[in-house]
Amino acid sequence: MKKLLFLVCFASSAFALEPTFERQTELQNLLKNDCGACHGLTLQGGLGSALKPENLLGKSDAYLIDVITNGRKETAMPPWKPFLNQNDVAWLVHFLKNPN
Ligand code: HEC
Repeated sequence: MKKLLFLVCFASSAFALEPTFERQTELQNLLKNDCGACHGLTLQGGLGSALKPENLLGKSDAYLIDVITNGRKETAMPPWKPFLNQNDVAWLVHFLKNPN
């Protein structure tokens, strides 16, 4: 029982500043329409690399958050800092690694 409680607390605190439900829907649309333009509609890869869980699970959240926030120099990957705050980006990384 204690263990379960710990898990529940941990799960809910991991995203203490989780975007609102409306924002999450916007972010999913962004993934499809904007990220998908380069990474493929189903994120299978295109101009940009594939963003499927199997491509990302081995990479750290910090690394992925940095690439999305600041872009990657010398490539077409743009910085998303002007449009996405850190909670948005953290949520996107979590969603990419664990789509429903
Ligand atoms: C204009 C094209 C373009 C758009 C739009 C774009 N990307 Fe990228 N992205 C790229 C390219 C090109 C790379 C670099 C691939 C490489 O290093 O070979 C990249 C790399 C990445 C990486 C690093 C992947 C890895 O395995 O290292 C992530 C994560 C990523 N993009 C996420 C996103 C997300 C999330 C969005 C939308 C918010 C987005 N990208 C929109 C072109 C784009």
